[in-house]
Amino acid sequence: MNNLPTHIAIIMDGNGRWAETQKKNRTFGHEKGSETARLITTYCSGNSEIQRLTLYAFSTENWKRPKLEVEFLMKLLEKYLKRELPAYLENNIRFEPIGDLSAFSSSLQKTIKNVCNATAHCTGLIQSLALNYGGRDEILRAVNKLNENQTPITAQSLNNALDSVSDVDLLIRTGGDHRISNFLLWQSAYAELFFTDTLWPEFNVDELEKIISQFKKVERRFGGVN
Ligand code: FPP
Repeated sequence: MNNLPTHIAIIMDGNGRWAETQKKNRTFGHEKGSETARLITTYCSGNSEIQRLTLYAFSTENWKRPKLEVEFLMKLLEKYLKRELPAYLENNIRFEPIGDLSAFSSSLQKTIKNVCNATAHCTGLIQSLALNYGGRDEILRAVNKLNENQTPITAQSLNNALDSVSDVDLLIRTGGDHRISNFLLWQSAYAELFFTDTLWPEFNVDELEKIISQFKKVERRFGGVN
């Protein structure tokens, strides 16, 4: 058995609770969480088995958070993308966001587009940030797009119309909860699910490596028999 974790997706949960343990504001947790995102991305870019890393950075439901927290997350995202661009280029990482970006400020949209364009030639890891992303929203947008053609929708045509066209092999959620929270619903149909109590700011490469080695031992049958 030697499964390759070609596409890893992560629900980065627990920033707020980690900040509480430090007697700090929730935003401190998000800031630290963005550093974990960088460390995990760099590790994945150096592991040739991993082709795509999708990180759930802002869901379609996250707008319900307090206004100040949402504003902070928007600023953090913009800062992160601007700061990380040299590292993307240095590590040959292509940045590909998924989600409905139209809800973001024009400045943030411009930054996202700039980083996409600047890294479009990169051939290593694809880092996909899920931004204003919801699995149901993604499927609905794809179906509506296909409906304009008035031809029968197939699994293949629907797959190709989604924001993210790559099946997830390994889905990890930090922070102790055991749910999918509207993340990559279509793409995770046969994903192996791993849940850890570690809060995202404390997640690290050692733990990811342990999860990957457990993943490699799993017998994946995709509904068939072995
Ligand atoms: C969940 O923690 C985390 C989020 C809703 C946002 C994820 C954002 C980051 C990791 C930081 C930004 C990342 C990048 C790549 C710029 P929570 O706030 O729900 O934590 P809690 O469950 O402890 O309250």
